[in-house]
Amino acid sequence: MVALKSSFAALLAFAACALAAGPVPGQIKNLVTFGDSYTDVVTIGDGGTAWPVYAARDGHFDLFPFAKSGATCSNNITDRPFPSIFESQLPLFFAEKANGTLRLNPADTVFTLWIGTNDVGANALITGNGINGATIVDTVSCAINVFKTLYKSGFRNFLFQNMIPLQKTIMYSADSYPNRFWTAPRNTTEWSVTMAELTTGGNEIAKLMLQALPSSLPGAHIGLFDSYALFTDMLAHPQEYLNGTAPFNITGAVNSCVFPEGADQSNTSLAVCTLATGTDVDSFLWFDELHPSEQADRVVAREVAAAIHRKSGRWATWFS
Ligand SMILES: *[C@@H]1O[C@H](CO)[C@@H](O)[C@H](O)[C@H]1NC(C)=O
Ligand SMILES: *[C@@H]1O[C@H](CO)[C@@H](O)[C@H](O)[C@H]1NC(C)=O
Ligand SMILES: *[C@@H]1O[C@H](CO)[C@@H](O)[C@H](O)[C@H]1NC(C)=O
Ligand SMILES: *[C@@H]1O[C@H](CO)[C@@H](O)[C@H](O)[C@H]1NC(C)=O
Ligand SMILES: *[C@@H]1O[C@H](CO)[C@@H](O)[C@H](O)[C@H]1NC(C)=O
Ligand SMILES: *[C@@H]1O[C@H](CO)[C@@H](O)[C@H](O)[C@H]1NC(C)=O
Repeated sequence: MVALKSSFAALLAFAACALAAGPVPGQIKNLVTFGDSYTDVVTIGDGGTAWPVYAARDGHFDLFPFAKSGATCSNNITDRPFPSIFESQLPLFFAEKANGTLRLNPADTVFTLWIGTNDVGANALITGNGINGATIVDTVSCAINVFKTLYKSGFRNFLFQNMIPLQKTIMYSADSYPNRFWTAPRNTTEWSVTMAELTTGGNEIAKLMLQALPSSLPGAHIGLFDSYALFTDMLAHPQEYLNGTAPFNITGAVNSCVFPEGADQSNTSLAVCTLATGTDVDSFLWFDELHPSEQADRVVAREVAAAIHRKSGRWATWFS
């Protein structure tokens, strides 16, 4: 009986601990977003409205968007001519904080980070362009360091959005074609196989690092939003997510352009393009060869907002 009582107490303690993980429902008022074109609200990747705008609507957040198209975590690791998190997005955030443009109460504020697509992608890891032999370990460690850096400046609520199954995008699938992002000759089977290793391996490293983070960042709420699982579910059950007037389409894109191999990819007059319009677009999972569609992003927004307010634990786990 004593043993039973104490194991019941342990169970209660465990339940209380599980409840304490994550911000309390309604706590978060401000959403600060970092990332790449998946999250950029100015140069929008999905052809419509970006997910942070929908998430701010769904979760009643004030939005502070810092994500920039083309970004990687750091240009020290992968050198691409775009505003990376460490060299551009974080410096801008800290400059605005320092001069009073941004006044954010840490308790009310959550930071999301959705990065990795460009870090592992063409002209970066998959094509062997990591600087000084940088690997997936370096790009993922860099992403985790974003939260450590924000914690040092007083912030406490962090939600990490992992990489989607990029090997299922047209850009990185085995039956890919020369497109606006890549026209040079390549072995698409090799790219797809390697990309599957990078996304699954990178996401596993991120999960293990995030699970280890609470002990060094006391008082922080650290969560993982499993974009990989969500997109895998959208691929498996498109009828539960897509709602346009065309047949469900998880292999093509709203805006697809087939180039001749080796063509100048900036010259669209060389490409054969297919464009879905009107209510048909919401039948597609992909907007173009690399980006989720607006309907996919509405789902991301809804689920991220639900994760932050702890209304749904389906795609998110709070480790602390
Ligand atoms: C990038 O490299 C510079 C110069 O070595 C260094 O000062 C900076 O801390 C590095 N940034 C990151 C994110 O590693
Ligand atoms: C604050 O810093 C940001 C970023 O450098 C700048 O755009 C803005 O004009 C500054 N505002 C003031 C009031 O100095
Ligand atoms: C592409 O790579 C795959 C996997 O390594 C290989 O089996 C295939 O022969 C390659 N195709 C060509 C055309 O080299
Ligand atoms: C699909 O559902 C979203 C809500 O998730 C809605 O905003 C959109 O208008 C719908 N699309 C169509 C074509 O009905
Ligand atoms: C999906 O869209 C593409 C256009 O990118 C089109 O070629 C293809 O036939 C569509 N597939 C289905 C199942 O409708
Ligand atoms: C684009 O390609 C077309 C057809 O080859 C060519 O006439 C045109 O000059 C090209 N435009 C640019 C800006 O290179």
